[in-house]
Amino acid sequence: MDIQKLAAHVVLLSSPGLGHLIPFIELGNHFALIHTHLKVTLLAVTSQTSEAETQILNSAMKTNLINIIQIPSPNIFHLIEYDAAPVTRLCVMMREAKPSIRKALSNMTLRPSLFIVDIFGTESLSIAKELRILNYVFVASHAKFLSLVIYTPVLDKQIEGQYVDQEEPLKIPGCNLVPPEDVVDPMLDRNSVQYEEYREVGNRILESDAILVNTWEELEHKHLQALRDEDLLGQILNKIPVHGIGPLVRQRVSETSEEFEPLLQWLDKQPNESVIYISFGSGGTISFEQMTELAWGLELSQQRFVWVVRAPTKVSADAAFFTTKYFNSGDNEVADYLPEGFLSRTNNIGTLIPEWAPQSSILRHRSVGGFLSHCGWNSTLESITNGVPMIAWPLYAEQRMNATLLVEDLGVAVRPKVLPTKKVVDREEIASMVREIMVVDENMKRNPIRGRVKKIRHSAEKALLKGGSSYAAMSRVVKTITSKS
Ligand SMILES: *[C@@H]1O[C@H](CO)[C@@H](O)[C@H](O)[C@H]1NC(C)=O
Ligand SMILES: *[C@@H]1O[C@H](CO)[C@@H](O)[C@H](O)[C@H]1NC(C)=O
Ligand SMILES: *[C@@H]1O[C@H](CO)[C@@H](O)[C@H](O)[C@H]1NC(C)=O
Repeated sequence: MDIQKLAAHVVLLSSPGLGHLIPFIELGNHFALIHTHLKVTLLAVTSQTSEAETQILNSAMKTNLINIIQIPSPNIFHLIEYDAAPVTRLCVMMREAKPSIRKALSNMTLRPSLFIVDIFGTESLSIAKELRILNYVFVASHAKFLSLVIYTPVLDKQIEGQYVDQEEPLKIPGCNLVPPEDVVDPMLDRNSVQYEEYREVGNRILESDAILVNTWEELEHKHLQALRDEDLLGQILNKIPVHGIGPLVRQRVSETSEEFEPLLQWLDKQPNESVIYISFGSGGTISFEQMTELAWGLELSQQRFVWVVRAPTKVSADAAFFTTKYFNSGDNEVADYLPEGFLSRTNNIGTLIPEWAPQSSILRHRSVGGFLSHCGWNSTLESITNGVPMIAWPLYAEQRMNATLLVEDLGVAVRPKVLPTKKVVDREEIASMVREIMVVDENMKRNPIRGRVKKIRHSAEKALLKGGSSYAAMSRVVKTITSKS
């Protein structure tokens, strides 16, 4: 490419881990596609030991949309406890990588016009400031999450004692009341190093020139407005613009291999919106008791399903009666953990998949009409943009706030009355939730929650098109940098 012709250079900084790398590749592609005269470079701090990471970097390079410069993640073993929490690990790693990041930024032949970091890279904002480069923060999650992050330093001054011990819900301007048990993982223990790191992220975001969030106006109008309103969170942000530029979802790469052909063929044979897809995300597992209830619940609901089943996390003493095989052999067949006869009884209506499934292809299949999900933002966006309502099933503290957002704020999901992390959700409740999102009301001739999700899907499509809110926000950003360089 002719450097003279390039109007501006956007540089992105991703921290280690696929969850941080992938959103930046999406963002980089998005910039490159929206404006062909932009040069986009991703500085990726990488672990260099992960095969999945290498694969993703390679396929990103093949598209020729963005340049990638890898920065090997620095050795931090001497700086942290061996059992340091993930947030601590990432923040320390990104701090130690600063000299390399600085070097990479100042050595670029085409001077960067804009530097974008995620919440773990906020310490590098100071480098950009020093080099007089415009700098933004990209929040790959939702606006409510951003609200909580920037309000944490305020809560820190206001509230005595642990957040989780508060009698009253936490009040964050512009958000529905946040139940104390809904706070994100790093806030569970205020005496931890992880909490301090997290709180400081909230302060450092305020040094940026603007914030990009993976959401859109029509989805989170209230939260975005609160971030701009001087009487609400706008006061803290002090005129730092917040742009909703989403939904950025994974590119529709063909992820299906021959292995999954039978599954897709099975889906092809099912009626429209008749199958519920069940997956707890990569690596998510549930207990043996919960797995039993889920199996019975699915059967009781009489709905078709595709279930990504993994061996349960813990098997209690009582369970030994049912699963002698589990204890006596190394056999990992998931069938061993399921109720007696479940497989034969559900043979016609269900498909089990071990370990991993081509999620995007499943969610966008016309016969899929529901998703039981662990509420990662990623999966949520995939579900919404395919018009699929959800059962919100948070597995970790991190995901509880997402569950609340989906159920109470957006109305695109239902959820169990008890927290699945605290108690087993029983089969009757599961069956009733499944029916609530899957079954079409005879009188109304529709399913109300599905209707709502479809409306939101439509708003997402519109937001990204010319004239839409997210498109306009991206254009504003591009205009800022192209007129400056
Ligand atoms: C999104 O999901 C895919 C697969 O389920 C995973 O590889 C990726 O890391 C996720 N991205 C984020 C941002 O969590
Ligand atoms: C099923 O969905 C497809 C694609 O969305 C649509 O073309 C078709 O008309 C639908 N079939 C019925 C019976 O509604
Ligand atoms: C929501 O889900 C995203 C994606 O999995 C996760 O990174 C984030 O921490 C979650 N946010 C909250 C507030 O739970």
